[in-house]
Amino acid sequence: MLLIMFLGSQSSFLQCRDNACEKTSYMFLRKELPVRLANTMREVNLLPDKLLSQPSVRLVQKWYMQSFVELLDYENRKPENCQALNDFLELLIEIRNRHNDVVPTMAQGVIEYKEKFGFDPFISSNIQYFLDRFYTNRISFRMLINQHTLLFGDDTNPAHPKHIGSIDPTCNVAEVVSDAYDTAKMLCEKYYLAAPELKIEEFNMKAPKKPIQAVYVPSHLFHMLFELFKNSMRATVELHENSAEGLPPVKAKVTLGKEDLSIKISDRGGGVPLRKIDRLFNYMYSTAPTPSLEQGAVPLAGFGYGLPISRLYARYFQGDLKLYSMEGVGTDAVIYLKALSSESFERLPVFNKSALRHYKTSPEADDWSNPSKEPRDASKSKYKANR
Ligand SMILES: Nc1ncnc2c1ncn2[C@@H]1O[C@H](COP(=O)(O)OP(=O)(O)OP(=O)(O)O)[C@@H](O)[C@H]1O
Ligand SMILES: [Mg+2]
Repeated sequence: MLLIMFLGSQSSFLQCRDNACEKTSYMFLRKELPVRLANTMREVNLLPDKLLSQPSVRLVQKWYMQSFVELLDYENRKPENCQALNDFLELLIEIRNRHNDVVPTMAQGVIEYKEKFGFDPFISSNIQYFLDRFYTNRISFRMLINQHTLLFGDDTNPAHPKHIGSIDPTCNVAEVVSDAYDTAKMLCEKYYLAAPELKIEEFNMKAPKKPIQAVYVPSHLFHMLFELFKNSMRATVELHENSAEGLPPVKAKVTLGKEDLSIKISDRGGGVPLRKIDRLFNYMYSTAPTPSLEQGAVPLAGFGYGLPISRLYARYFQGDLKLYSMEGVGTDAVIYLKALSSESFERLPVFNKSALRHYKTSPEADDWSNPSKEPRDASKSKYKANR
């Protein structure tokens, strides 16, 4: 619905690029943006004091507060003249730039906290809950800003005249898959001097033999696919670098059904044991400073935020991202998107009593028996360094 809303309102923006449309967007954003900032700032304040006092977290809070105050200046400013509209546009660009490094800075805050206070399962589940909501809020915030600046500012995209802001109403999914693969391949070849080939297959249930298209934000799709390709390539090269048969290809399958548009990236990189799958999406595990993440050591892997953030992008428009792995063989990562743009409404965190409860209630005892120890040889696992 949001995609439709963006399309509906903004395709009419396209037809009448006078400032009446810009004014409508201005009126909407000057209320909506501070509300979204305020919601997320209320939640930041529910984090444990020890985390809030870390310098990186304080810096992020300062950015949010500054942007909130600057946006409030427009609360009563009438958009009757171009000056107000231009000032607002400039402010949005400034805010976007100020918030560029929110993800790594927040990640740094989590590392600082972990180094000082160690790992606590209650805090970790709080941080997980919080960061998923915080980063989703950020994705939505940037989406709104980008729509405004792309439609009314100077950063319109002449290479893609059919795009409506950042949305491509006829996004060719296989093309984005290829682009993401090519970019990941360049990185992979740079560091490993080899990269697996790509095999793409399409299955369009609605219109067989026609390329699969979606109303979507190509940059979001690219982000998710690029992360999945980097992971698949790294696993493939590391497992097969000395194999006589060479590197097994990475396969991409794009399918369109009535409800779902799915993209599966499959590799033969040796997979991940089931026990570890959930933690691959955990920020607290992933930010653990580990030997293999030392600078330059593992070029295709960084903070360990690739999967969790990609899943947020998929969920933002009601899709999902799931990993199915067979240890010893390889991994299938599937991105699910809504086939119909009318179902692609924004999924946003709501700040209410249920949310509050998440921060206040300590976890109860597990009601299933559970082995408390890691298996003995877990320390020898190939992926131990990252999780
Ligand atoms: N296809 C895969 N095959 C094997 N292991 C995988 C695969 N995808 C992910 N993993 C494991 O999951 C971990 C987490 O992946 P994720 O993309 O979130 O972080 P990263 O690759 O370590 O760092 P980043 O993506 O931030 O640069 C990887 O380090 C790797 O151990
Ligand atoms: Mg990764």
